[in-house]
Amino acid sequence: MDFSKELITWYRNNKRDLPWRDTNDAYLIWLSEIILQQTRVEQGMPYFYKFSDIFPTVKRFSEASEDQILSLWQGLGYYSRGRNMLKTAKKVMTDFNGVFPTTYIDLITLTGIGEYTAAAISSFSSNEAKAVVDGNVYRLLARYFGISIPINSTAGKKKFQVVANDLLNIKNAGEHNQAMIEFGAIQCKPKKPNCEICPFITSCYAYQHQKINELPVKLNK
Ligand code: ADE
Repeated sequence: MDFSKELITWYRNNKRDLPWRDTNDAYLIWLSEIILQQTRVEQGMPYFYKFSDIFPTVKRFSEASEDQILSLWQGLGYYSRGRNMLKTAKKVMTDFNGVFPTTYIDLITLTGIGEYTAAAISSFSSNEAKAVVDGNVYRLLARYFGISIPINSTAGKKKFQVVANDLLNIKNAGEHNQAMIEFGAIQCKPKKPNCEICPFITSCYAYQHQKINELPVKLNK
């Protein structure tokens, strides 16, 4: 079975209509990914609209004061995200001529952007073949392949990244990654996943071995 093909079919039929999915503007994608780093989609959505409305470009964002950013950030928590964003927006203006980078190698140099976020922005904005591994992806891979090594170990991180890279559809990396995230979020949920209507029911290790509720490390996001 072609996992990615099956997954993308599921995604096209089931995905939520989220505003950051209608764009390939790396700046807007960055905005959404930083907001969603420690925040649920429903909670983050109004902040995404607010920030993209007030700061439609990275230039406008870079001209804001820290006080303004932190005041708009109120209610989201983890305020270091807002401070790091300002630093990054300024760096994009000085070091990248005001053009938000779209390649993994450039993105990873920016403050507040780690491996997951660099893979997300580069694949969503320019289809770069980098697989994302976040809590959602980790859970679905652990279940589907029956991987029991904890992700909070170095060996675990490596293993999940390798497995995610192997599954990646390199011709359609952005959509594949969005589909992985969405599948983990709304189908292969932490509690009560929708196994009865899952396209992978016959090949899922956890379902076939009644181990749906046995994850190596609990991730609630
Ligand atoms: N969480 C992090 N990134 C996301 C995205 N692009 N769509 C939905 N949820 C997400």
